[in-house]
Amino acid sequence: MAARQVSVRDGQLIAGPAPAPPVAPAAEEAPPAVPAPATVTEPGAPDNAIARTSDVPVGGGVIVGNTVVTQPNAGSFVGLSVVCTHLGCAVNDISGGTINCPCHGSKFNLDGSVAAGPATRSLDGREVSVQGDWVVSGAGDPSAPIPPPKPWWCEIIPPGCLGC
Ligand code: FES
Repeated sequence: MAARQVSVRDGQLIAGPAPAPPVAPAAEEAPPAVPAPATVTEPGAPDNAIARTSDVPVGGGVIVGNTVVTQPNAGSFVGLSVVCTHLGCAVNDISGGTINCPCHGSKFNLDGSVAAGPATRSLDGREVSVQGDWVVSGAGDPSAPIPPPKPWWCEIIPPGCLGC
């Protein structure tokens, strides 16, 4: 005769296999970090200032709100959107001479052109200029919310269909 398992549930004996212990729900994958809104509140800063020129390294850049500001060459500042042209994640790192997307590994040169895919299109430009010691934004709100990334199927579905 086979042994039968007995367990206690709510003070009652229950024949049969013991209930499986509760399984903790899988931890949700943390969304990629989104840059903080662009705010420069220092006295003397122009209203539309997004960074001190001295905070933007030559051969690198900074991410402020929805804008990437790079300085490919000394004194030459470039403004770009943080929205990756692959599926719309926000780029969140500038290192090794490229602007890097955390979602699928696209890399962009400091002028916004594609250095490595899967993205095939340059980052969109954003108007910036220099006013004194400050990089200031032109048209557009650098603190406007960044739209959510597109779903994976947008790689194969034409734009305008199924949320793509
Ligand atoms: S969304 Fe940036 S690499 Fe896919």
